[in-house]
Amino acid sequence: MDSQALILKAEQTHCLTEDELLHLLQDDSADEAIFQAADRVRQKYVGNEVHLRALIEFTNICKNNCLYCGLRAQNPCVHRYRMSEDDIVALAQKAVQYGYKTVVLQGGEDPAFTTEKMVSVLQKIKPLGLAITLSLGERLYEDYQAFKAAGADRYLLRIETTDKALYEKYNPAMSFENRLRCLRDLKSLGYEVGTGILVGLPEQSLRSIAKDILFFKDLGADMIGLGPFIPNPQTPLKDAPQPVLEPALKVMALTRLLLPDVNIPATTAMETLAPNGRIKALQSGANVVMPNITEGEERQNYALYPGKAGALDTPLAFRDKLTAKLTEIGRPVSTGYGWHKIKH
Ligand code: 5AD
Ligand code: SF4
Repeated sequence: MDSQALILKAEQTHCLTEDELLHLLQDDSADEAIFQAADRVRQKYVGNEVHLRALIEFTNICKNNCLYCGLRAQNPCVHRYRMSEDDIVALAQKAVQYGYKTVVLQGGEDPAFTTEKMVSVLQKIKPLGLAITLSLGERLYEDYQAFKAAGADRYLLRIETTDKALYEKYNPAMSFENRLRCLRDLKSLGYEVGTGILVGLPEQSLRSIAKDILFFKDLGADMIGLGPFIPNPQTPLKDAPQPVLEPALKVMALTRLLLPDVNIPATTAMETLAPNGRIKALQSGANVVMPNITEGEERQNYALYPGKAGALDTPLAFRDKLTAKLTEIGRPVSTGYGWHKIKH
């Protein structure tokens, strides 16, 4: 089959084989048609509304050493911080004032955030009426269970790559099996589960990316965050080639074609690579933006990769700019919670 026929098949049936996905990934001339098909599928299944999720980066301390990430434990150049419980709750209150319906509590794997401490934070935030998304890495089943009982609704944990050998090469001392275990635990506990990959890691094959997209479907993911890998000069992968936006955008658009009704953010890493990357993403399958409401020094110190877009904005300035841009492209900001499936 040629690419046009495969795009039509994906748009109509939302099913492609690994080889068919690979064919499309290899054909650069199909990019624009894939973006447009993903935009139509997004419109048909999840509409024009854009859901905003307020992001709080509550700790940049991490015990892990992912080779691609600026927050890795062995990077001595990071100014480390850990917010107090009160600071986190105060930011969640601001999220409400700014009009957001969801907060995302994101952090490195920081052992100081014990089960008890996270439960206490969640119990303080829950009465504010926000949906709560957690993104704090790999934990025990019992932790995920306790967080859920304390009010967490959603959890983000990227698989990063389904190529086990590559995963274990870039995530020393971590195991691919444990990551899968975490994702399955989260699903079984009733979280809305977000996963995703880094696009453009050195040695990552297009075939493995085709497998990644099929993995999202198998898992029954509710949200998928795709980011271009951006080399960080303070990490072992500093000499990797400078990325461009299109490959990540293409993986995102293909993901929309195969998982038509999931929530897909236009990621900050995409905006970092191209001035209008976020808007281009929203017009190629994405329906979510995660505005960062972390303030002051912390906002600059949560540096996974260099040049992070919006690091110098204030949360309010960012929200106003974003709302204006969304209005311009005919995409209203949602006033709802933006669940994957309507809750009854
Ligand atoms: N470039 C882009 N994304 C990165 N992440 C970590 N390091 C980088 C980088 N250099 C992503 C990982 C992780 C998420 C929180 O940030 O995919 O899951
Ligand atoms: Fe830690 Fe996440 Fe960075 Fe890995 S990617 S070093 S787990 S913050």
